[in-house]
Amino acid sequence: MYDISIKGGLCLVGDEFTRANIGIQGNRIAYVGREDIRGEVEIMADKKLVVPGLFNAHTHLAMTVLRGYVEDMPLMEWLRRVWEIEARLTPKDIYWGSILGILEMIKTGTTAFSDMYFHMDEVARAVGESGMRAVLSYGMIEKGDEEKGRNELETGTEFIKEWDGAFSGRIKAVFGPHAPYTCSPGFLMKVKERAEELDTLIHIHVAETKHEFEEIKQKYGKTPVKFLDDMGFLSKRVIIAHAVWVENEEIRILKKRGVSVVHNPVSNLKLASGIARVREMLRAGVNVCLGTDGAASNNTYNMFEEIKLASLLQKVATTRADALKAADVLKMATRNGYVAYGIEGGELKEGMLADIILLDAKSFNYLPLYNPLYSIVYAGYGCEVTHVIVDGELIMDDRNVLTIDEEKVVDRVESTVSDLIEGLRPRG
Ligand code: NI
Repeated sequence: MYDISIKGGLCLVGDEFTRANIGIQGNRIAYVGREDIRGEVEIMADKKLVVPGLFNAHTHLAMTVLRGYVEDMPLMEWLRRVWEIEARLTPKDIYWGSILGILEMIKTGTTAFSDMYFHMDEVARAVGESGMRAVLSYGMIEKGDEEKGRNELETGTEFIKEWDGAFSGRIKAVFGPHAPYTCSPGFLMKVKERAEELDTLIHIHVAETKHEFEEIKQKYGKTPVKFLDDMGFLSKRVIIAHAVWVENEEIRILKKRGVSVVHNPVSNLKLASGIARVREMLRAGVNVCLGTDGAASNNTYNMFEEIKLASLLQKVATTRADALKAADVLKMATRNGYVAYGIEGGELKEGMLADIILLDAKSFNYLPLYNPLYSIVYAGYGCEVTHVIVDGELIMDDRNVLTIDEEKVVDRVESTVSDLIEGLRPRG
């Protein structure tokens, strides 16, 4: 008798969809096969697709409260307005913004995410309550100021010590130096040393925009990835968000050092950053995963949008319709995220963590279901997600999110945002 059995679904096992039963014991997948199995909780899945949960590998979760606040502006002006309001965010805003973001993620099939922001205790609390899995980092900005650097590193370290492994291991806490243009080389190397001491990872933005590429080149005489490698920063511990502006030699460096890359197609389009060279990176053997980035530059946490766009962008950028195939992009959205962050999940295989989603195989947008893979990748909305299991716990059952009170979220988000905006009105 398993804790949960998922019966008769069309399951993505390896690269193929096959009819199978899945048994979950504790937080792990204990059985995948054709034997008739029983569970304390049984989910009839004969009309479902069963796939590994999606991993959103780069977010600033609480930016949900800024969603739609400022749009259609040149990047620098947009950033100025975003920073102005970000400076006013209270722990309460961060908490409710995080719960709202997690609600959206659960409903669209995400089982794990990697977040970098501030007031991270509130994000951790939201993760704990919602049943989600997350990699969390306090976003450190030092700007060459030694004292600020010491304080930032201390805050980042304290966060890791307090939260790493919390909620039976659902939280993994790591370092999050913001970027090479907001952190000096000296500071980045201190972060690297500390990450080695604590045996943890580093999540950082690198080579997002042409502006950054030129700025680093001008300041240090090298392009961003090469600059980081020459100082000895890059290793398997490092996960870089974006890598839009990378040269051929830098792709080889990423592979050689075992660095994972998070591709954020919607954000890169919306902020007009460019198209990352995903096909080349994958062909070179770099582990590339997918993310949404923050809700202010996306504006959703729906991974199905990223999946489809990631594939389409490579096709148009290379004028090859086979540039990024459905199976590969789905792997980017699942397995590769888990691999990047060293978490044993993202596959329907015995021994893996039980992070699993069920999709309605009869959903209007999937029909006719010639090949489930193509329906998921090219016709997915997110509305077809019916069940979500994280760490062996059912957190969405037949589209009901069991861990979050939706009405309360709507109410609290609206009131917290009205306080926030109220404060912005000029006085007098
Ligand atoms: Ni970002």
